[in-house]
Amino acid sequence: MKSMKKTRSSAPGKLMLFGEHAVVYGHPCIVTAVDQRINAEVELIGGDEVEVIAPSIKFSVAINKIDILQAPKEVKFVLAAVRIFAKKHGINKGLKITTISAFASSFGFGSSSAVTVAVIHGLHELFEIKVTKKELFEMCYQAVLDVQGVGSGFDLAAAIWGGTLLFVTGGKKIEPLAIENLPISVIFTGVKADTVTLVKQVSELRDRHPKIVDGIFKQIGAVVLSAQVALANSDWNQLSELMNINQGLLESLGVSTPLIHRVSDEAKEVGATGIKLSGAGGGDCLVALGELKGQRKFDVLEIGLQAAGVRSEKYE
Ligand code: MEV
Repeated sequence: MKSMKKTRSSAPGKLMLFGEHAVVYGHPCIVTAVDQRINAEVELIGGDEVEVIAPSIKFSVAINKIDILQAPKEVKFVLAAVRIFAKKHGINKGLKITTISAFASSFGFGSSSAVTVAVIHGLHELFEIKVTKKELFEMCYQAVLDVQGVGSGFDLAAAIWGGTLLFVTGGKKIEPLAIENLPISVIFTGVKADTVTLVKQVSELRDRHPKIVDGIFKQIGAVVLSAQVALANSDWNQLSELMNINQGLLESLGVSTPLIHRVSDEAKEVGATGIKLSGAGGGDCLVALGELKGQRKFDVLEIGLQAAGVRSEKYE
């Protein structure tokens, strides 16, 4: 098999705009890619060991002995990505994989999904194997399910396609949205959320109240479709109202917190017209519309939206 010696790929993080949680149950969501990227350098080395060099850890294991359950948490997604690729293409060569992150995992921008995408993209480049975006998505989605067992895959779609997307779970629909302008502020609550726990919590609520919770998901799905129209028309008044409605529905699912309420109220006091949590809830970031004026008691992150999807980078 042909191969290059070394490649570098980068993939962006994501920000959920509308439709979290309901997307896990087959409804659409809207997600945008953020201009905070993770780089993965993938290099062919002798032997059959996979050496992973992540910011906080070095770890190596034989390529045909990768055990996701036993692996340290910092390298699980990289190893799951390598295992999926190696299995699919029958590769058992030694590899060195170095990951470099431009963003802290505490913001909830999806560092695990971005690293999974960057590694599988880099491996295809290294072995000069052509892959479509959809094939890349399928492989990455399998890798993420191998590690965490739950998730819609919206974050992987954002990392692969970039821009802003309408997405349905498992990639049943991935539709790039042409949006000229996205004047959204990103506010960090200061607290890291645990997505897997919150997804399970919502699933348990649904077990106890199936009709009611499915009704809430349906309402969230309707909000997403109206938000798609409002975004296309740059109708910020409509979009603000839809954000507030979406936040109310998320509150009824029990994923909002007193901290999220407090920060939302503070943002509204200085000009936010619409605000909601973004992602699983419990913390992470909020997205807000409206000009935030004067003194703020909260952190607004300087983040570019609608960033480019996964791509090859030059390496030294
Ligand atoms: C988490 O960022 C968003 C959820 O909808 C989970 C998912 O879609 O994978 C809660």
